Amino acid sequence: MIKLVTKNKNKWVVTSAWPYVNAIPHLGNLIGSTLSADVFARFLRMKGDEVVFVSGSDSHGTPISIEAKKLNVPAEELAFKYHNIIKDLHEKWQISFDNYTITHNPIHIEFVKKMYLDIQKNGYILEKEIESLYCKQDDLFLPDRFVEGICPHCNFEDARGDQCDNCQRLLTPLDLIKPKCAVCGHTPTIKKTKHWYLDLPKLQDRLKNLIEENEIIPANARQMCLNSIAEGLPERAITRDLEWGIPAPFENAEDKTIYVWFEAVLGYITAVKEWAEKLINDPDKFNYFWNDPTTKTVFFIGKDNIIFHLIVFPALLLAYNDNKKESEKLVLPYNVSSTEWLMYENQKFSKSRGIGIWIDEALELAPLDYWRFSLVYNRMEKSDASFLWSEFDNNNKILNDVIGNFIHRSMTFINKQFNNKIPEKIEPDEVDKAFILKITSISKKVGDLLEKFELRKALREIVNFGRDGNVYLNEKAPWHLIKKNKKAAGYVFNLCAQASYALAVLLSPFIPGTSEKILSYLNTSKLSELIWDSISENSLKAGHFIKKPEPLFQKLDIEEIKQKYEQLKEGKPNEGEKEIISYDEFKKLDIRVALVEKVEKVPKADKLYNLSIDLGTEKRTLVAGLAEHYKIEDLQGKKIVVLTNLEPRKLKGILSKGMLLAAVENDKVSILILDRDLPPGARIE
Ligand code: MF3
Ligand code: ZN
Repeated sequence: MIKLVTKNKNKWVVTSAWPYVNAIPHLGNLIGSTLSADVFARFLRMKGDEVVFVSGSDSHGTPISIEAKKLNVPAEELAFKYHNIIKDLHEKWQISFDNYTITHNPIHIEFVKKMYLDIQKNGYILEKEIESLYCKQDDLFLPDRFVEGICPHCNFEDARGDQCDNCQRLLTPLDLIKPKCAVCGHTPTIKKTKHWYLDLPKLQDRLKNLIEENEIIPANARQMCLNSIAEGLPERAITRDLEWGIPAPFENAEDKTIYVWFEAVLGYITAVKEWAEKLINDPDKFNYFWNDPTTKTVFFIGKDNIIFHLIVFPALLLAYNDNKKESEKLVLPYNVSSTEWLMYENQKFSKSRGIGIWIDEALELAPLDYWRFSLVYNRMEKSDASFLWSEFDNNNKILNDVIGNFIHRSMTFINKQFNNKIPEKIEPDEVDKAFILKITSISKKVGDLLEKFELRKALREIVNFGRDGNVYLNEKAPWHLIKKNKKAAGYVFNLCAQASYALAVLLSPFIPGTSEKILSYLNTSKLSELIWDSISENSLKAGHFIKKPEPLFQKLDIEEIKQKYEQLKEGKPNEGEKEIISYDEFKKLDIRVALVEKVEKVPKADKLYNLSIDLGTEKRTLVAGLAEHYKIEDLQGKKIVVLTNLEPRKLKGILSKGMLLAAVENDKVSILILDRDLPPGARIE
C-alpha cells in the first residue's frame, strides 16, 4: 500500500526584538534581530507555511524618557519621531514585516492592562513597600536605566540599574556600587515607595520544566536560563514610579506605570492582534495564531535579551493562562535564535565615540544587498564577531566572482549562441549527473539548515553551490565543446540555467532584490510567488525565452567606501567635541533684547514660568525653566536676551516662541542682562 504523506503546514509567529526608540539601530542590532528574522520569515513563506512576522518600536523604555528629559520635549513626541524613522529604514532594508508597530498604541496598552488584571486575579501579583533610589535634583525615582554604577558581580564600570552589559546579570538599582543618576549625574538618596511584584518564585518550577523540556532552544540560552533559575528567581517589581509608560491597572497604583520589559514582550501578542484587526480586517486571525498550541513562536534577539524572552515572557504567559479555557491560552515560546555581539574592526560600537556603522549610514555607503549578504554571511552565531572592511570586500568578491559571474556567463552564452532560448536536453553523462544531483538536493540542504536557524551556514551552502556551478562550467568548457558538439554544449547551459533559477530561489530570503533581478532576466516567476521546493533539473523548460542580463553586482571600491565612511563620521562631530561654525551660520541667529512684561507660573510644572515679552516690533510668549531660580517680581520689568528665531516648541501645552539666554553652571542659573539701557528689539551681534 502506498501511504500518501501530506506535509502539514506549520503556523509561525516570527518576531524580532523591538528596538528602543531613542536611537537608530546599528548593524549589530539589525543582524541580531530584524534581518535574521526577515530571512527566516521569507524562507517559511516560500515553503508554504503560514507566517505572521511582527515587531515594533519599544517606546516606553527609560532611555527615551531620559533623552526626552534632557531635551525637554514630551517623550511621546520623541518616541514617534524615532519610530517613524526606524520604520522607514526597515522598509529600505526590505524587512518584510506583516506589522511593525509601536508599544505606545491603544491595542497594546489595553491588552497589557487587562492581562495584568488577569494575572493578579490568578494570584501572581504581590505588593510591597520598598526603598528605592531617588534623585533630589530631578525630583525623580531612579529605576532601571535611570541609574548607572558598578556591577556588584563583575565590577563592570558602566552597569545599569536593570542589567549589566558585561555579565548579563539582571540587577536592581540598589545592587549597583556607586550609583549615579543618569539624567544629572548626582548621587541619589533612598526613599520609600510601594510597588507591585510578579511572583516568579511561584512560577520557578514550571519555568524550569519548560526550559528543560524544550529540546530546540540553543544550548547557550538554555544554560543561561537554568543558571539564573538555579540562583533562585526573585520576586520582580513590575511597576515603576515613572510618568512615561502604560498606567498600572492595579488599585491604588494610579501614579505608577508598568516596567517597560514587562509590557514590551507582550507586544509580540498585541502586534498580531493589531495586524488581524486593523491591517487585514480579520480579527479571528489573532486567536488562530496565538491561541493554538501548535503555533510556533520564534524570537530573534541579541544575547542580552535571552532571560526576558525565556523566563520573563513565559512567566507572564503561564500566570495568565491559569484558569483559562484551552481555547484562550496563549502559546508558550517555541524557540529563540540569539546572536552574540557584533564589533566594528574589533572595537565596541559606540555612538558617542563614532565607532561602528548605523543602518542609515550603511545604505549611504553601499547598495542594500551587499549589506544583507555580508551581515548574514558573518552572522555572530557562536561568538562575538567583528565587522571588518576586509571581509566586506571579500564578500563583495564572492558575490561578483561566484554568484554574479556564474549566472552572467551562463545567460550571456545562451543569448549569443542559442538565440535567447534555453537549449535542449540530451542524455546526461556522469559529470552532468553529479551536477543534477547538486541542483536537486540543494534546497533541502539549505532548508534543513534554515530550519535549524543556521542562517550563516545556509548562506555559505548556497555560495558553495554557486562554486559548484562554476566548477561544472569550467570542467565542461562548453565554449570549446560547442565547436564539435553544439547539442552537448547546449545541455551544459540548460543545466546552468536551472542552477541559475535555483540560485534565485535560494538567495531570495537573503537578498530578495538580487533574486528579483535574476528572475526577471530568466523571464520567469515573480519573487512573491516563488516556491522553495520548485527547484529541479526541469524548472525552466527547453525553448523558454530568457532576456538579456545586466551584471548582477558591481565591484565595490572599498578604499573609496571607507573614505566616505570617514567623511560621514566627521560630518557628525562626537559628543563633547566643539563644533566650529562659520560666521554666516552665526549670522542666522537672531538674538535680541526683550522686555519682560508679565511672568506667570505654569500650572502643574514646578520649574516653568510663562513670560510675556515685548520685542519692540511684536509681543510673544516664552516658557523658561526659571521658577526655581528667580522670583516672579525679580523678572518682571527686566530686559533680557532672547534667541528669537528658534523653532517654536510646546511645553505643557503652551507654545514657546524663542529661548531666553542664561548662563548655567551646575545648579546655578544667571539670566543675561545688558549693562547699558537699550530698547527692546535691539539686535545682539
Ligand atoms: N528594546 C529592547 C532592547 O533593545 C528589546 C525589547 S524586545 C521586547 O534590548 F520584546 F521586549 F520588546
Ligand atoms: Zn538626577
